[in-house]
Amino acid sequence: MTDDLFNICIIPNPVLRERCAPVDKVDAAARRTMERMLRTMYDAPGIGLAASQVGILQRLMVVDLGRAAQATPLMMANPDLVWHDPAETFTYPEGCLSIPGHYADVTRPKRVRVRYIDENNQAQEIEADDLLSSCLQHEMDHLNGVLFIDHLSPLKRKMILKKVEKEQSREHLL
Ligand code: NI
Repeated sequence: MTDDLFNICIIPNPVLRERCAPVDKVDAAARRTMERMLRTMYDAPGIGLAASQVGILQRLMVVDLGRAAQATPLMMANPDLVWHDPAETFTYPEGCLSIPGHYADVTRPKRVRVRYIDENNQAQEIEADDLLSSCLQHEMDHLNGVLFIDHLSPLKRKMILKKVEKEQSREHLL
């Protein structure tokens, strides 16, 4: 059922640099979009996906670290970072479905609180640490057109961009 999946945009697709707009509410269409994003993310596979990665410029994102870490997948609209602990950071080798095959250490606040609207249009707040914290921040970055490579040195960022472009053009020849 690949018809049911979104295509994932790869760098340097300019849509990944766009700022997404808030949704008025999570209606049936927004919920369907997030469910389809989840299926696309599982198929990839990945642990997080933001709407701009599938060419939709709405503030929607999905996260699922798996059963061990999370009881149910998170479907989030209009996520807003309402608090972070400035005292502690967490470093994780991040990757991104829009930057396939490349990973690099990114340091972010270890603990965050995020307010959002869930798939039932209910306001929610979640406190997260470690990997979930990093993942939420990574996906919220996407909604502002920011990628994890923007947290790296310019040299490292350029290197990854070049490699991905080369790999993508090679793929298109096959
Ligand atoms: Ni990403």
